[in-house]
Amino acid sequence: MLVLGIESSCDETAAAIVADGAKILSSVVASQIPTHEKYGGVVPELASREHLRKIAPVVEEACQRARVGIRDVEGIAVTEGPGLVGSLLVGLVYGKALALALGKPLVGVNHLEGHIHAVLLENKTARLAGNPVEEAVLPCVALVVSGGHTGLFLVEEGRHPANSHPVFNYKRLGHTRDDAAGEAFDKVAKLLALGYPGGPIIDQLAGWGDPQAVDFGRIKMKGNPLDFSFSGLKTAVLYHVRGTSLALEAEQRRAWRKTSQGASLDELRNRCSRQTLDLIASFQNAAVRDLIERTVAAAEAAQVDTIFVSGGVASNSLLRARFLQASKAQGFRLFFPSPALSTDNAAMIAAAGYYKLKAGQLADATLTAHASFPLGT
Ligand code: KG4
Ligand code: ZN
Repeated sequence: MLVLGIESSCDETAAAIVADGAKILSSVVASQIPTHEKYGGVVPELASREHLRKIAPVVEEACQRARVGIRDVEGIAVTEGPGLVGSLLVGLVYGKALALALGKPLVGVNHLEGHIHAVLLENKTARLAGNPVEEAVLPCVALVVSGGHTGLFLVEEGRHPANSHPVFNYKRLGHTRDDAAGEAFDKVAKLLALGYPGGPIIDQLAGWGDPQAVDFGRIKMKGNPLDFSFSGLKTAVLYHVRGTSLALEAEQRRAWRKTSQGASLDELRNRCSRQTLDLIASFQNAAVRDLIERTVAAAEAAQVDTIFVSGGVASNSLLRARFLQASKAQGFRLFFPSPALSTDNAAMIAAAGYYKLKAGQLADATLTAHASFPLGT
């Protein structure tokens, strides 16, 4: 079954064609980074306008790259939430109109469910290609960690009572009470005038600093120990900078960045003092440690030995390396999508949508966008 996936929940306009929820024939992502870069964050109104400009050419390109005519598509999957409503509506209405015009079935997909399916999709693709990778088998605990979300889910596979097709059940184990982890990376990068989006920049610069230089301590949570909170860590970085030479250095970097667009990472690093690099490394270390400890605790509490990690922050190199160490030391199976499938894309939406199409969980004309759209019970 050929499924067209459409994703527009934040600042990427994406379309993909996926066969049988297992083989990516094309995955096109039009990034809006240049549009939002100068504001240091996503500007919702600009994002919607960009989506409007890009949606038709991106869908067309996905079909061309897959060598598939739009009429060959057998189902359409669109992200219905959570995200920016104006952004979501562009992809959703486009998908709805296509489905209506072509007489194809339509399904709505939760963006977080898409991130979890990125792991299953990547695993299936690798196995189909004959790569000797271990099969990703459910149940698992999934950490979805991105710029908009940080949550832990217990994911189980069941069967649809009427047609026995696979259906997925999600139980929310914990979520962030304030900032998402990626948001904290982006805000710390903004504070230190490092550029946008901050996550990948901090990831690369942190390698030059001492992760033990600043002791941020453990993030304490009252109530559910599987919840997250990153705003305190972000504020701790702010207090570390405010009124010190690091603040002055950041201002100088900000002025330099305005006149040096397209500067290389080495040039940026040369404008960071040892203390700044140490602070960056220590912040990343604290965030990564917290993400891993709570995820492993969730897997232990749920008594599962498989962990999925997905979302933009899953491409963080320290997070990957430390998770891998922990999985070897503690004996759980660990699955990450490749960086291209970790950040927002439409292949993951098509993959999640495939199972809904098969199980007949179709959307009707009332399908609409939801800014807040919790996954699971
Ligand atoms: O999944 P995604 O593309 O969009 C959302 O659903 O939010 O994630 C984007 C987020 C941004 O906050 C970005 O800074 C972060 O993922 N990110 C990273 C890395 N690559 C992307 N954070 C830390 N390290 C990275 N290598
Ligand atoms: Zn995402």
